[in-house]
Amino acid sequence: MGKNRIDPSLVLRNAQKAEKDRTLGLFDLTILGVGAIIGTGILVLTGIVAAQDAGPAVTLSFLIAATASCLIGLCYAELTTSIPNSGGAYIYSWVSIGRLPAFFTGWTLLGVYVATTATVANGWTGYVKSFLYELNIHLPNNLLVPAGKGGIVNLPAVIMVLLITLLLMQGTGQSKFVNDCLVCVKLAVIILFIVVSVRDVNPANWHPFFPYGAQGVVTGAGAVFFSFLGFDALATSAEDAKNVQHNIPRAIVYSLLLSTSLYIIVGLLMTGTVKYPKLDVSEAMSYVLIVHGHKMVSQIVSAGAILGIIAVVYAFIYAGSNIMKAMSRGGFLPSSWSKINKRSGSPNRALLLNGCLAAFLAGEFDLHYLALIANVGSLLVFFLVAVTVILLRKQYPDLPRPFIVPGGKTIPILAMVICVVLLITISREAWLSYIAWLIFGCLIYVVYSRHHVIV
Ligand code: ALA
Repeated sequence: MGKNRIDPSLVLRNAQKAEKDRTLGLFDLTILGVGAIIGTGILVLTGIVAAQDAGPAVTLSFLIAATASCLIGLCYAELTTSIPNSGGAYIYSWVSIGRLPAFFTGWTLLGVYVATTATVANGWTGYVKSFLYELNIHLPNNLLVPAGKGGIVNLPAVIMVLLITLLLMQGTGQSKFVNDCLVCVKLAVIILFIVVSVRDVNPANWHPFFPYGAQGVVTGAGAVFFSFLGFDALATSAEDAKNVQHNIPRAIVYSLLLSTSLYIIVGLLMTGTVKYPKLDVSEAMSYVLIVHGHKMVSQIVSAGAILGIIAVVYAFIYAGSNIMKAMSRGGFLPSSWSKINKRSGSPNRALLLNGCLAAFLAGEFDLHYLALIANVGSLLVFFLVAVTVILLRKQYPDLPRPFIVPGGKTIPILAMVICVVLLITISREAWLSYIAWLIFGCLIYVVYSRHHVIV
């Protein structure tokens, strides 16, 4: 430890962008956070986890996962306000631990963002399929299912990811407007679901509340953790954020509060309107509405889900390109990948590489397999983020810290413990998938990065 660490002042100098060139205010950042957080998790996982793991107590699983995310989010806020940069956890590792851990953090994050984009796009195809089915339009199954699952390619997912990539390549200033609209649509349909379903609640459906006991609630928390991924993506937008010290911590907390409230209300309504074993379907929100005869509202909710999930893909391709840009600036990846396009002001090569990789994975791999990689990778990085908060306070006590996690080391330590607990509950298959990605990273490091890295 201690060798090959990068100086924070170098990071700050490299990341400096004039305040006038920054495009994202508190509202935009919160919307970006909500856009990244609310997606496949609530639309697909809530019903499945209620049916298989936790029953109506899925609401408590959400609460545990939200607590974990909030603790980690606070750690992120301290780091991102003291060292604002688009590399997020990758840069924090480099500053506090060293070059190799920095590479592996960046590489893991890259895998997480690409895998999450692909997972979400995969889930999106399910909603497209069921929406079109209601309209009596039947797409050939071969073009909806990846090769590993007996089809040829998940074509809608591939097309959607590529189109969003092209949109992002027009620059964040312009595409931010489209993203804001998509997030509003997503929130509107969730609120519509809440308003319509609340009248159908039968409290008898909440008995038993803990059909799978406490163990089920914890297993459920591990599964619904995916629903909160995205708050960390905000940390990577620090270079584009106006008044970063003030806006980033608030945006993280606001977007987590908003999504947690919605998750808990939706979880309570789903399990209160339909008996939990029946919720084992991927489009649980529409299903619940159809069961109670709200066919029209169900179609509107499906349409909103289709648009809303697009916002998640937008946020994750953006975050992935930011990590790639930062790693390229550090010499871990070719320098041309961080080149900013003059017209759009975006790192177009990084966006294109991320988009193409995510489109390929979304088209050819199974949703479950991709989500597993995202979960293991995220929790490992979150663990490192909490470690880094403690290390940096010792190594750079004088670094200006506009925001400090309250309570000394307690919150970072609690965050580490929760990450370890959730990592232990994740299957061996997930670990093997992550290790395969890591081995690929090792090859790149040995062949390229170690000869070009700047420190
Ligand atoms: N949290 C994001 C979602 O649920 C990844 O889609």
